[in-house]
Amino acid sequence: MLRRFLPAIALVACVTVVAQPPRRKPAPTFPWSDPTLSPDNRADLVVKELTLDEKIQLVHGIGWGPLREGDPVPADNNGGAGEVEGIPRLGIPSLQEADSAVGVRMAAQQSRYATLLPSVLSAAASWDPEAAHLYGDVIGRELRAQGYNQSIGGGTNLARDPRNGRLFEYPGEDPVLAGTTVGHVIMGVQSNNIMGDIKHFALNDQETGRTVVDVHMTRKAMHESDLLAFEIGIRIGQPSSVMCSYNKIDGDWACENKYLLTDVLKGQWHYPGFVVSDWEATHTTTKAALAGLDMEQPGIHHFAEDLKTAVQKGEVPQARLDDMVRRLLRSMFAAGVIDHPPTPRTVVDPFRGRDDAQHIAEESIVLLKNADNTLPLDGARKQNIVLIGAHADVGLMSGGGSAQVDAPGGDPTHPGQPTEWGQAVYFNSAPLRYIREHAPNSNVTFNPGTDIKSAAEAAKQADIAIVFADQYMSEGGDAPTLALPDNQDALIAAVSKANSKTVVVLVTGNPVAMPWIDSVSGVLEAWYPGIGGAQALANLLFGTVNPSAKLPITFARTDADLPHDRIFGLTYKTTNGGLPEHWVDEAKNETFPADYTEGVRFGYKWFQSENKTPLFPFGFGLSYTSYTYSNLAFNKGTNTASFTVTNTGSCRGTEISQAYIQLPAAASEHFHRLAGFTRTALNPGESKTVTIPLEPLALKSWNEPQASWEQLPGTYTLSVGPSSADLPLHTSVVR
Ligand code: BGC
Repeated sequence: MLRRFLPAIALVACVTVVAQPPRRKPAPTFPWSDPTLSPDNRADLVVKELTLDEKIQLVHGIGWGPLREGDPVPADNNGGAGEVEGIPRLGIPSLQEADSAVGVRMAAQQSRYATLLPSVLSAAASWDPEAAHLYGDVIGRELRAQGYNQSIGGGTNLARDPRNGRLFEYPGEDPVLAGTTVGHVIMGVQSNNIMGDIKHFALNDQETGRTVVDVHMTRKAMHESDLLAFEIGIRIGQPSSVMCSYNKIDGDWACENKYLLTDVLKGQWHYPGFVVSDWEATHTTTKAALAGLDMEQPGIHHFAEDLKTAVQKGEVPQARLDDMVRRLLRSMFAAGVIDHPPTPRTVVDPFRGRDDAQHIAEESIVLLKNADNTLPLDGARKQNIVLIGAHADVGLMSGGGSAQVDAPGGDPTHPGQPTEWGQAVYFNSAPLRYIREHAPNSNVTFNPGTDIKSAAEAAKQADIAIVFADQYMSEGGDAPTLALPDNQDALIAAVSKANSKTVVVLVTGNPVAMPWIDSVSGVLEAWYPGIGGAQALANLLFGTVNPSAKLPITFARTDADLPHDRIFGLTYKTTNGGLPEHWVDEAKNETFPADYTEGVRFGYKWFQSENKTPLFPFGFGLSYTSYTYSNLAFNKGTNTASFTVTNTGSCRGTEISQAYIQLPAAASEHFHRLAGFTRTALNPGESKTVTIPLEPLALKSWNEPQASWEQLPGTYTLSVGPSSADLPLHTSVVR
């Protein structure tokens, strides 16, 4: 039997190999497939081939899609917040956009895993462009592995109001630090052939009434503050898109604001990418198109049929529509999403993501107080340590809204239950576990902190009490005051009264007031520290890692010390403890002004020019070692500051040095501006001479009548040191 079949098998094999080689469909090559052409040329070649309907298809989203039950979802949809359908006949893929401010959002619904990074404010607290690049790299590689080709993160709004609900998505109060941080995050994202974004352009500096608030500020102040952060971020990161914001500016919605989108972004800054609206932030067709909006998201209200009609009627020139499409295609070619499409079947490496998140957390958790060298704790000692509050036995809090990352395995504080929009989500990164690992000889216990009396009693029995306090923040609302919520101030006060060795760990989206500061021994600001947060915290508490982070935002003592003691659009009532009783009703389109009369003077610039002392200044952070500064030189030719930093303590550490510029008297500025910074790793006793390049725009003023930057003549004072409020070195040059 077998023999009878053998020749036949041989014949078949022979025929298959020789006569019918397997045929592969050749990949379609188009004139624009040539990667040696510039992205602009390639985009131009595609635009020439597109029909009017295809062009319209490329400038709007698909509707709410997977975000809203019942809305149509295209077959190729990847589950993200936005999609623009591609043009397969020309090899143009769909745009698959995912929210990814602090990690990829909505992964669990697609049975995927995403790393929760520390907050963006944390990344800024590291003052480390390399950490910021790594931050973006984690996001970019996980987007790629999950089949997305665009990140819609890149929050860059400055912390004008420290109660802003989205501060955890933003890089602090200073334009140079913020722009540098975000620029490097975007570079990290785009190093994975994923399109990056920067948002929310611009002046979306509070969440209260975000879709109706009308912001007023001089153009000079805008350019020297919020716009400067975007200008630097875009220059460094070259993001594929800029997302315009919900708010109005001087009466015009940001997404139809010609000054912002056309005059500044595309004109003065020569931005070649596309402008995408925040979700439902497009209000008109012709006005928005002529003002410079290039894409409506998520839907089809203004830039679908209505835009087609406007083009056919000549209300929107054909050339403007071509420009919108060209900008999108140019960004796709430049980022490499057409030449190197994402690889959706790759498995995300959760361990690599966690290690990266922990590294960033270790560089970003700020030691704010350390009386009598209470920290680092001695892991070898036998002692009773009690952890109190904020679910520190099971996990750590994360920030919410469109920045919410899904907790792997669910929220350990609500096992087995789904979490909803607006509800705080904890991640399984338990401080109790890692503190126990560091203190094997100690008795480490947990008290939930919900009963203040029992917490104080537990603290009394312990050698040391570590109170965890947290604050949930999410887009759509601000913290009404700087106070910690849920009676946690009373908890900390009671615990510190019961135990003189009390260390407070703050897990917050924003700076908070600390009425108990004088009675505690130590304070660590952990922000939202991400999936590796508990290990990072334990390493810092026990000195395995020496703290190096510094504040990217000023901590005020009280709301009364801020430029505005209350948030615009909130009506406060004195009878309920000063808490608001009415939030502006956005559904009723109750527009209201936010007069940011302080202009550029917020954060450290406010405290310095008002001669007020904050609770903790911008740029401040302690270490387990100490440093001195000497030998400052201001190099006019290279626009750099050079100086020597010495580690005068007994352990290795990394010092963040900051350089500030005071402009000549003609500028009438009663504050200095951050112009540069660097991190220097030093062994005990070691000195290094470091050179910091100074941001050229930090030395310039915006000339409003001329609509350009100018260098004022006069004396420029350079100050260098460890924080905005501690600058031991000064020198000046005349320009
Ligand atoms: C947010 C954006 C986000 C978008 C899509 C909006 O509510 O403001 O930051 O990217 O939703 O989820």
